[in-house]
Amino acid sequence: MTTLKGKDILRADQFTLDEIALIMQTAERFEGLMQTGDRLTNMSGKVLATLFYEPSTRTRLSFESAMLRLGGQVLSVAEARTSSSAAKGETLFDTGKMIESYADVAVIRHPAVGSAQELAEGASIPVINGGDGAGEHPTQALLDLYTIRREKGTVESLTVALAGDLKNGRTVHSLSALLANFRVRFYFVAPAALAMPAEITAGLRQRGVEIVETTDLAEAAAKSDVLYVTRIQRERFTDPAEYERLKDSYIVDLALVKAAKPGITLMHPLPRVDEIAKEVDTYDGAAYFRQAANGVLVRMALLALVTGQA
Ligand code: NCD
Repeated sequence: MTTLKGKDILRADQFTLDEIALIMQTAERFEGLMQTGDRLTNMSGKVLATLFYEPSTRTRLSFESAMLRLGGQVLSVAEARTSSSAAKGETLFDTGKMIESYADVAVIRHPAVGSAQELAEGASIPVINGGDGAGEHPTQALLDLYTIRREKGTVESLTVALAGDLKNGRTVHSLSALLANFRVRFYFVAPAALAMPAEITAGLRQRGVEIVETTDLAEAAAKSDVLYVTRIQRERFTDPAEYERLKDSYIVDLALVKAAKPGITLMHPLPRVDEIAKEVDTYDGAAYFRQAANGVLVRMALLALVTGQA
């Protein structure tokens, strides 16, 4: 039987197809139960610890909301970088050793690639990666998948354009790995300086995934079923002038949407800066706020599954 009980969630490529199906089905089940208005108690008596060493609005709030909606409780270090013992030089491994006596499951966001892995090595409780620097963001990828299935009916054989900062954007690293399970075709749209890391592209091609790399957003939008736009990741730039040069590389406005494939679904992990004009929000296929709402359901599923409470 497929189970995620006791497992860490660290990377998008860790999942089997059965595990992905289980997460999607569990999120759907919770969605149905939430609509009946019943109080859920799956996580009653359980504690979630959230350790955020980097800014977050959606990820932290949606994990905390998910835990509370399942009847559990939350312990949170919001400014972990300055207010926790990390400021005194404690390693994540040691933090992991401690956290297991305070909580039943932990979510971490941290600027270093591999940070969630390090915490998980110290902790015996399940650790969930809420974003490790420019590395991965697997729970975002799962909610993105949930959203695509919702908006399109299926994800199989779709053409998906990922646009923006593909070099530093962890959401697209995880999403491309997850969607590779479903015979999607990709357009990777980025300025040359922010292209998808070559090892990711090569790994996907090795798995038989068809990828077109381009700088032309309009061309990709004309051929894609889903356009997933990302923010230029300012905090990953060492040279502010380089950020200024690249920050307005792509702007999705209504003119672009009109020239795109009819019915195209627009997604964005949020926060957006200028890359999607506000005028686009009224377009039916603008799914980014629905996408954010789906985050609570998918995170409810993950919390309940890894603790064996689903
Ligand atoms: C993303 C992240 O933190 O990687 N935000 C999120 O979790 N929705 C995207 C971003 O910050 O650009």
